[in-house]
Amino acid sequence: MKIAVVGSGGREHAIIWKLLENKKIDKIFALPGNGGISQLAECIDIGADKIDEICDFAEKEAVDMVVVGPEVPLAMGLVDMLNERGIKAFGPDKNCAQLEASKAFTKEFLERHNIPTARYKEYTEVEGLLSDIGIYGFPMVIKADGLASGKGVVIAENAEDAEKAIRDMMELKVFGDAGSKIVVEEYLSGIEASCLCFVDENSIVPMASAQDYKRVFDGDKGLNTGGMGTYSPSLMFTDEIEKEVRENILEPTLAGFKKDGMKFKGVLFVGLMLTKDGVKVIEFNNRFGDPETQSVLSRLDTDLYSILDAVTENRLSEIDIKWKEERAVCVVMASEGYPEEHPTGIEITGLEDVEGAVVFHAGTKLSDGKLVTSGGRVLCVTSMGKTHDEARALAYKNVEKIQFKGAHYRKDIGLIIEK
Ligand SMILES: Nc1ncnc2c1ncn2[C@@H]1O[C@H](COP(=O)(O)OP(=O)(O)O)[C@@H](O)[C@H]1O
Ligand SMILES: [Mg+2]
Repeated sequence: MKIAVVGSGGREHAIIWKLLENKKIDKIFALPGNGGISQLAECIDIGADKIDEICDFAEKEAVDMVVVGPEVPLAMGLVDMLNERGIKAFGPDKNCAQLEASKAFTKEFLERHNIPTARYKEYTEVEGLLSDIGIYGFPMVIKADGLASGKGVVIAENAEDAEKAIRDMMELKVFGDAGSKIVVEEYLSGIEASCLCFVDENSIVPMASAQDYKRVFDGDKGLNTGGMGTYSPSLMFTDEIEKEVRENILEPTLAGFKKDGMKFKGVLFVGLMLTKDGVKVIEFNNRFGDPETQSVLSRLDTDLYSILDAVTENRLSEIDIKWKEERAVCVVMASEGYPEEHPTGIEITGLEDVEGAVVFHAGTKLSDGKLVTSGGRVLCVTSMGKTHDEARALAYKNVEKIQFKGAHYRKDIGLIIEK
């Protein structure tokens, strides 16, 4: 079989690595892939948002399935276009992809189906919004409605910061059209967690839990990033919480899809806040999380292709998805300065000394036969262990073997501070 995987990050590297465990797959194309992915798959120079070119390529190569990693092509309707050409594709259609592409769409969905979430109001006029500053008190949660690469949410501590954020989004259009509509939410306090699920029209099946680290520095300090590390299973996600999430969130979500005629097939990533009044939904994403996927798929015992294939054919309930008992820890190594301005093209060394870790590449490329950095997040060093501490120690032991100038990483991924 031939598969095409759309995307170029650590998530796509992990998906490809896992897919290759299926012996029936003899060829994977990555569109566009990266330096690490090129060791497993043939990288084709077609960007993830070039949806017409992706369709032409998939048709020409007669691939058996296209797996879509990132949110942008999903929101553009790539899966619908592939299906129209008779090509099997993993990921939600354009209608369902609004769950990530529009925060207002999701809030309306959650409210309509009585799924616990923060109170909210939406705005398209700057004056109305300015006069509502502090409507739910402070901090004030201000969200650009559309896709903003994880940068479209401002938590304003006071009226002055709120006004600046609103003017930036609506008048200066710092997120382009994504900020034409704004969602304001009540601020929720609690512990954040996320739950990735496989979903087809009949079932919703949570994957092994994972905990991620969004801030750039140890102790959750500094700017937000795409994610600096993860571990699985999450120690926050107890059986009791899992039951609450299933009953109050996942089952009503699936029922809501049916009622609204949404044929969601793919991965639903549910962002949660564990508050003192119960678990509430912060947001939905509709694809594998990055870097959650690196730890979660490391622990998947079942053949990934069979699951993805079952989802596309509404046979998910027939698959018995199994997870390894071993624990996983993934540490992200980033470029100097990330998440702000950072250099690229820096040579990476030491990968040949890695032992007991899989290094998923997020931002690398081959240049004159040398592996160099090509993005902010560069490598995701992922180790497994019988215990959480063993996995953690092994991941860090390997991180220390890898060098590139200015590399930085958090030292506290998976560090459990007992209360
Ligand atoms: N209602 C809320 N209360 C408190 N914190 C929030 C709330 N909504 C979002 N956040 C914080 O902002 C982050 C980003 O918000 P989210 O809706 O997940 O947008 P995105 O991931 O698209 O940037 C969340 O991970 C969370 O830390
Ligand atoms: Mg989020």
